[in-house]
Amino acid sequence: MEYRISCSTPDLSPALVSPDAGCLEEIDPLGQPLKLGLMASGTGSNFVAIADAIAQHRLAAQIQLLIYNNPEAPVAQRAQERHIPAYLINHRDFAARETFDQQIADRLRAADVEWVVMVGWMRRVTSVLIEAFPDHIINIHPSLLPSFPGIRAVEQALAHQVKISGCTVHIVRLEVDSGPILMQAAVPVFSNDTPSLLHQRIQTQEHQIIVQTIAQLAQAKQTSDRQHNALG
Ligand code: GRF
Repeated sequence: MEYRISCSTPDLSPALVSPDAGCLEEIDPLGQPLKLGLMASGTGSNFVAIADAIAQHRLAAQIQLLIYNNPEAPVAQRAQERHIPAYLINHRDFAARETFDQQIADRLRAADVEWVVMVGWMRRVTSVLIEAFPDHIINIHPSLLPSFPGIRAVEQALAHQVKISGCTVHIVRLEVDSGPILMQAAVPVFSNDTPSLLHQRIQTQEHQIIVQTIAQLAQAKQTSDRQHNALG
């Protein structure tokens, strides 16, 4: 039992589209794919959901690169298997968070990335990264924000005995998990849930809404490219 409770896109910038723009069906084969830079620290199931949607032509996007910060992160292997360039930028090699973020921003810019997608990125961002891609960084979080920001969101939800939790895709701001919400999905919480069981059900929804959000962004790009071409 799962409930999709919102599929909205706030009017943040001309790059974003109206709430009900068709997500997955209206790919213009002649349009340029949206160039993505993915950032992850862990397992990479959201990375796989995005990569598979692209490979199956459900998403007019292209993963330019993956940046990961943890040498042990399984997501790196998942990128390599799919021949997607993966760069380790280890936060332990940097004295300050700003220089770490500068290195990331430089790498993303060098790869010509248009949108940055954080899929399980476990580091706090600084203004260096945010200002490098203003309003063009999104994150997925395993709760219905603004409830339960930060780490251990699933455990927080269980501790509060909420009856409905879920996941959120939002624009990244300096404050952790605080930016404007683009899409959410709700998931019921059962009395016998463990963090692992609930997280698994939430992740099934995460894989849907992260792809749908990117599909909306890709569609907005295609619309804007078409308008540009018509004028040119
Ligand atoms: C997800 O639950 C996401 O919401 C959170 O980190 C987790 C990453 O999972 N930010 P995965 O590595 O994509 O499987």
